[in-house]
Amino acid sequence: MFFGGDYNPEQWPEEVHAEDVALMRRAGVNLVTVGVFAWSHLEPAEGEYDFAWLDRVLDRLHDGGIRVALATPTASPPPWFTLAHPEALPVTADGVRLTHGSRDTYCVSAPAYRAAARRIAGELGRRYARHPALAMWHVHNEYGTDCRCDRTAAAFRAWLRERHGDLDALNESWTTAFWSQRYSDWAQIMPPRATQYLPNPAQVLDFRRFLSDELLGAYREQRDRLRGFNPDVPITTNFVQGGWVSVDHARWASEVDVVAVDHYPDTADGGAEEETAFAADLARGWGGGSWLLMETAPNLIYTRGRMHAKEPGRLTRHSLAYVARGSRGALYFQWRQPRGGAELFHSALVPHAGPDSPVFREAVGLGRTLRALGPEVAALDPPDARIAITWDAPSWWALQGAGLPSADIDYLAAVRQVHRTLFRAGLQTDFVFPGADLRAASLSDAGHPADRPAGRPADHSSGLPADLPVSRAGGDLSRYRLVVVPHLYLLDDAAAAVFRDFVAAGGHLVVSYLSGIAEPDTRIRLGGYPGALRDLLGVRVVEWHPQPPDVPIALSGGYLASGWAERVETAGAETVVRYGSGILAGAPAITRNRHGAGSAWYVSTALTGDALRDLLTRVAAEAGVAPVLDGRPDGVEAVRRGPLLFLFNHGPAAVVVPLPGTASDAVTGRELDRSVTVRDGGAVVVRLPG
Ligand code: GAL
Repeated sequence: MFFGGDYNPEQWPEEVHAEDVALMRRAGVNLVTVGVFAWSHLEPAEGEYDFAWLDRVLDRLHDGGIRVALATPTASPPPWFTLAHPEALPVTADGVRLTHGSRDTYCVSAPAYRAAARRIAGELGRRYARHPALAMWHVHNEYGTDCRCDRTAAAFRAWLRERHGDLDALNESWTTAFWSQRYSDWAQIMPPRATQYLPNPAQVLDFRRFLSDELLGAYREQRDRLRGFNPDVPITTNFVQGGWVSVDHARWASEVDVVAVDHYPDTADGGAEEETAFAADLARGWGGGSWLLMETAPNLIYTRGRMHAKEPGRLTRHSLAYVARGSRGALYFQWRQPRGGAELFHSALVPHAGPDSPVFREAVGLGRTLRALGPEVAALDPPDARIAITWDAPSWWALQGAGLPSADIDYLAAVRQVHRTLFRAGLQTDFVFPGADLRAASLSDAGHPADRPAGRPADHSSGLPADLPVSRAGGDLSRYRLVVVPHLYLLDDAAAAVFRDFVAAGGHLVVSYLSGIAEPDTRIRLGGYPGALRDLLGVRVVEWHPQPPDVPIALSGGYLASGWAERVETAGAETVVRYGSGILAGAPAITRNRHGAGSAWYVSTALTGDALRDLLTRVAAEAGVAPVLDGRPDGVEAVRRGPLLFLFNHGPAAVVVPLPGTASDAVTGRELDRSVTVRDGGAVVVRLPG
């Protein structure tokens, strides 16, 4: 179990380094990420290297028994680089060429940048690939930088040729007959740039896919170079989520040896635990059961215009929640709070106040807990979920576009609402990735991590240490009883067939509006919505009725919805809930279709909290899926991993949690007689009997 974080010794004089290692040992830190933004220190001028300081840092860490995730510094090229290669600076959609002065200021398609990145990665590989402190390579930082320059345009065209073959196919796929956009030469095609009115949605979506692949190409170059120096060292890069990030992590996951994720919940008060569970469950899906929290904030987080301190216990509670949901540790940004620089007030394990501080004291306690639990938890299977939610980055990107029927469409919010509803009901969920870019073949051969022997990857080919599973995103639906499909806008026939087979075999499927609408290239599937899933759902939607988000829509049974309504015609499905007023009064709102041994539900409106809860808990019960823990008090999160039950009290008062028999506290060994008290804001790990 890893514990530690980003360590930036280049920001500090060497006297501080000795104290750092002593404090790390006190806290039980065993892994630090070094060198993420150290390029200008490692290569002060083109081709001139200074590794002496890094040698001393790594040796000192090694002497202290602390391992290193050694980063390549390519997210932040030094000033000398950008002055020598101005063409490698990124250009915005408005045509503005940015200059250095921050980070992530490069064009990933610029040959000079790519060459410089390969070179510094290679130098680091040559020097440190067999250093005893090296635990893994951390390539780059949070891939996602966007550029729209002419070189990017050329790379985009090359990618488009691969994807579409010829211009006729591209013109067809992009519907360029609309607004006279027909291309007669590849050279006419541009990345999406500032234009007069709405851009072409297919062009915008293809550009985001291109960027994901282009960034992946840059990652692979470094990875392959590093691997050449020592094939036994795992290699990763830290994934970051955000609506602006054009990286399809489900596609990238098989390219890293361990999925590493940065997560900064931006909810200062209640609700951060729901964000944490969501991010962790999603990361576990990418990671094929196991992943690593590479960064989170130890204390103050910036949200709603100010920094908020975490209350005592939150660092521990949330860190253990990531671990319960499959993270192989808890790492933070950052070890020591800097004296200057752009993030000078960002929180750290060692704050400006020094180690005599609440955050450092809490870290010491957490380190102790992780040491006690680590070996056992690391060997356990992931949480055993029988419910899955679909996640599809291209559908998210397509639903961010202009020209959609409502400005309130929000893919992320829709997925999070489903996850939150199941979380609050105490139902464990996985994520699966059966979207347009993952074909049925990759779905069926992926295999669920819980079906693999603990700690053994499915395709362990690179000689990694056996305790770091190879990541693998997939979506074998056969182990699930219920699959929820929110806003899966893009869907091809192969993925639709996966759902059909799942239901035919006895699965329960709940599909929301805005699913199955378009082909992967954004062309609409004709004949009525939800195109690709119409037959399976036994419905045909002939009209959309987008609504204002703040006006309730009455439904039968006293339920409410808002924001969206549809005219649904049934074609085999039974109507379970109807619209209660307005021009749709009496028309179907929620339907169920029996198909084979299972059932397929369609939800044509945006259900508010209670309605969605009642629907999902009803279908879960019909599917035979039970909550993780019976009698779980409100505000308590429960995660089960084999014999261990993780309990988190997110509420403001201590609670007594009933246990199924005599158990023990997995950290202290204390015996627990059929119940355990979890203090407000606290976490307890229980070893269950038998
Ligand atoms: C991360 C990034 C770190 C640091 C942190 C601040 O996204 O990787 O370098 O900037 O955010 O929260």
